[in-house]
Amino acid sequence: MANIKLKEFLYGGDYNPDQWPEEILNEDIRLMKYFNVNAATFPVFSWAKLQPEEDRFDFEWLDKIINLLYENGIYTVLATPTAAQPAWLSKKYPEILPVDEYGRQRKHGARQNYCPNSPVMKEAVRRVAEEMAKHYKDHPSILLWHISNEYGPYCYCEKCEKAFREWLKDKYKTIENLNEKWYTSFWGRTFYDFDEIVVPSFLNEHVTLLGTVTCMQALSLDYNRFMSDSLLNLFKIEKESIRKYMPDTPITTNLMRDYKPLNYYKWAKEMDVVSWDCYPTIKDHPSSIAFQHDIMRGLKDGQPFLLMEQSPNQVNWQTYNSLKRPGVMRLYSYQAVAHGADSVMFFQWRQARGSAEKFHSAMVPHVMHENTRSGRELKQLGEELKKLNKIIDSKIDAKVAILFDWENWWALEYSLGPNNSIRYSQHVEYFYKSFFKKNIQVDIINPRSDLSKYSLIVAPLLYMMNEDISKKIEQYVASGGYLITTYLSGLVDENDLIVLGGYPGWLRKILGIWVEEIDSLYPDMKNSIIVNNPSLDFNGEFECSTICDVINLEGANVLATYGKDFYKNTPAVTENTFGNGKAVYIGTKPSEEFLDKLFDYYLNSLNIKPILYVPDGVEVTKRQYENVYFIFVINHNDYEIKINLDKEYYNMLSEQKISGEICLAAKDVLILTI
Ligand code: GLA
Ligand code: ZN
Repeated sequence: MANIKLKEFLYGGDYNPDQWPEEILNEDIRLMKYFNVNAATFPVFSWAKLQPEEDRFDFEWLDKIINLLYENGIYTVLATPTAAQPAWLSKKYPEILPVDEYGRQRKHGARQNYCPNSPVMKEAVRRVAEEMAKHYKDHPSILLWHISNEYGPYCYCEKCEKAFREWLKDKYKTIENLNEKWYTSFWGRTFYDFDEIVVPSFLNEHVTLLGTVTCMQALSLDYNRFMSDSLLNLFKIEKESIRKYMPDTPITTNLMRDYKPLNYYKWAKEMDVVSWDCYPTIKDHPSSIAFQHDIMRGLKDGQPFLLMEQSPNQVNWQTYNSLKRPGVMRLYSYQAVAHGADSVMFFQWRQARGSAEKFHSAMVPHVMHENTRSGRELKQLGEELKKLNKIIDSKIDAKVAILFDWENWWALEYSLGPNNSIRYSQHVEYFYKSFFKKNIQVDIINPRSDLSKYSLIVAPLLYMMNEDISKKIEQYVASGGYLITTYLSGLVDENDLIVLGGYPGWLRKILGIWVEEIDSLYPDMKNSIIVNNPSLDFNGEFECSTICDVINLEGANVLATYGKDFYKNTPAVTENTFGNGKAVYIGTKPSEEFLDKLFDYYLNSLNIKPILYVPDGVEVTKRQYENVYFIFVINHNDYEIKINLDKEYYNMLSEQKISGEICLAAKDVLILTI
């Protein structure tokens, strides 16, 4: 994977030695060795110490720590400290401070608090990255570069506004073209010159009462594209400075799950390896966490990723910061590996004594020693991971893919209507969960990527499309693929203009239907889906909600109809044969039970089977390369379960052969190979 030279699971975490007196270093080393730590990520937030004055860099303290760790077998994930600028920089160049969505100029403080289009900021980050790369280029300890930290949020200042106008000129060439593409004749919003275009914010376009929606979607969408690119540009500036001196060392930045503001597909193209920070709440369903891991694995076409941060125990920034129950830290670590992670890293090594994160857990808590419940779990995990190095670089081979797209997300939630309460990623996760429960592996992919290797593609709420995506999907189905898509799909182009001539626009031909009306239901309004169809292997009445499309057939067969309202008995779910494949439309948000049955039906027809048959609440995944494979059996339940193995396996954790009936304790994990 991304040529990280250490072929071991990276185990360790964010390290902040500059928060502590130097004397603690030897104790850090003792404890790191005790826990089997092999990598530390630093100095993520040490810009103030590395560059205390504009023309003075101080690497001496850092050299000492990197060297000492290296002498003790601990490698460095070298971070650039640019997520929080030093006070002198903001004071001398206030232009780097950002403006928020309400038009307020922010003051120095916190972190991720700068304008990405400030020339001073760009030069400042370039310089730190370059100085660091020059200084550490020959150091054998550097495994990986970790640029900045959790990029985001957007800025709305005048510098950004000017840069945005240039970006628009470059994209649309003439103002007439922009007017046409943005449909500015509506509300007389015609622009006569690029310099009249204003950044979209709560001061103009955003509709405050409805949260995510906006008045001129095309403008807001372009601002998202521009801002995601602006922040990415900062990353690229640092990356290029590092590459000059260290062309072979991989470079990453830590992403945050399905973070809406940044188009991570574009970001991942610039990263050698994807890494991310995973912080579920105690209430999250295991499928929610799995969904996020699969998004991360999909960013670079299935390449393994790094779990860069998770908390050893509780966090401090959720409203209620529950402890991780016994076994859960280990369980979640293996769940990450089961979905493609090649590391288990934590935030952070030593629990901070003061400031924002003093109540956030760390590998070494305030008691300052290892004899704690969490300490014992960390020690065990560190020892176990050493037995698993063969898993590194292995991949997941899924037959099912779910399409997920940032630009579509932005467009769907900027749109005023038809239903302003819909949250895209929650809906996609809803469809994902059905496969998760069945232990069918799923890739989450960009609609622009290669679809041909999948037997079944699910495209929930694929609202925004273009010629290219539409052709890809058409070819996929024509050549034998199965497509299941839903309400709110195929409706608009890349500027949020409706595809005229009947919904669902881009998908009408493939689906063989015409959606005449889109009904949007209040939360307490429900309808039902009636299945009474000899071609399906189930029947009954199932609840549905949120959106009900009124559908006319244009060649498709009816799989199910509505149970109520003026569209009672009209099609709710349809199937169309298109070329050698099939295209299914679900015109409403169905109950979980209906989805489970419908997906079962198609999985059976396509002969897609789970890796193992196990009791509910047990997750199974498989990673593989060439003829070798690894099966993960993860018991999320609070009770022991029994499973029957289909053959003899080698249990990598117990280092024994096993077969037949196996008991797996609550929150325990089995990792099998042959
Ligand atoms: C993020 C950051 C870390 C830390 C953790 C706390 O992931 O990258 O610096 O603040 O959250 O959970
Ligand atoms: Zn700005």
